[in-house]
Amino acid sequence: MTSRLLHRGAEAVVRQETDTVVKKRIQKPYRHPSLDTHLREERTATEVRILQKLHQIGVPAPTVQEHTKDTVVMDYVPGDLLTHALTQIEELTAYGQQFGRLLAQMHAHDIVHGDTTPHNVLVWEDTLYIIDCGLSYHSQRDEDKAMDLHVLRQAMEAAYPSLCHSFFTAVIDRYKLYYENAARILQRLEQIESRGKHK
Ligand SMILES: Nc1ncnc2c1ncn2[C@@H]1O[C@H](COP(=O)(O)OP(=O)(O)OP(=O)(O)O)[C@@H](O)[C@H]1O
Ligand SMILES: [Mg+2]
Repeated sequence: MTSRLLHRGAEAVVRQETDTVVKKRIQKPYRHPSLDTHLREERTATEVRILQKLHQIGVPAPTVQEHTKDTVVMDYVPGDLLTHALTQIEELTAYGQQFGRLLAQMHAHDIVHGDTTPHNVLVWEDTLYIIDCGLSYHSQRDEDKAMDLHVLRQAMEAAYPSLCHSFFTAVIDRYKLYYENAARILQRLEQIESRGKHK
């Protein structure tokens, strides 16, 4: 079986083995060992639970095949990161709209992603797949949901300052369409962002 390193991040080592991805959360020497074990196990369990939940609510995400305390084995999604796919300007609105709808579906089920950067979305055959759910959580709070939008806007602004406006407009357009509490969340987003400006 061939094994290819896809990513070695701060948290995890991600390998591809044919049609499968193995994401193993690695030990961090600077963290207290028992805290480290606790965090790795908690994030792994969260990732499995949320990926399965996303499936149930119709949000595309890799299927989990199996897992241990620190490793998730899931389907390989043979697509591009949204970060890279976004360089094609004509796709900007379509991807933004899709992302807006997926976030709306997640928030309607009180799932907050927690790390909504375009690095955590894969595009395969024009469909967006949500990944990296280790920091996700259940919340009914407007503030938490607004933070998902804020983090996305900040990540987009940093990566693609010239494309951010069009992309985010498309996100918000669909978010409003598919989530009945969108107006409240967007109000909170404005508050969060004006707090940032006045700091
Ligand atoms: N199911 C998958 N199919 C294809 N590629 C994947 C899959 N899961 C992860 N990857 C690739 O591995 C990368 C890292 O995965 P992920 O975002 O889940 O880890 P990470 O927690 O962000 O790592 P860190 O935060 O430590 O950088 C992704 O950006 C993507 O390129
Ligand atoms: Mg990631």
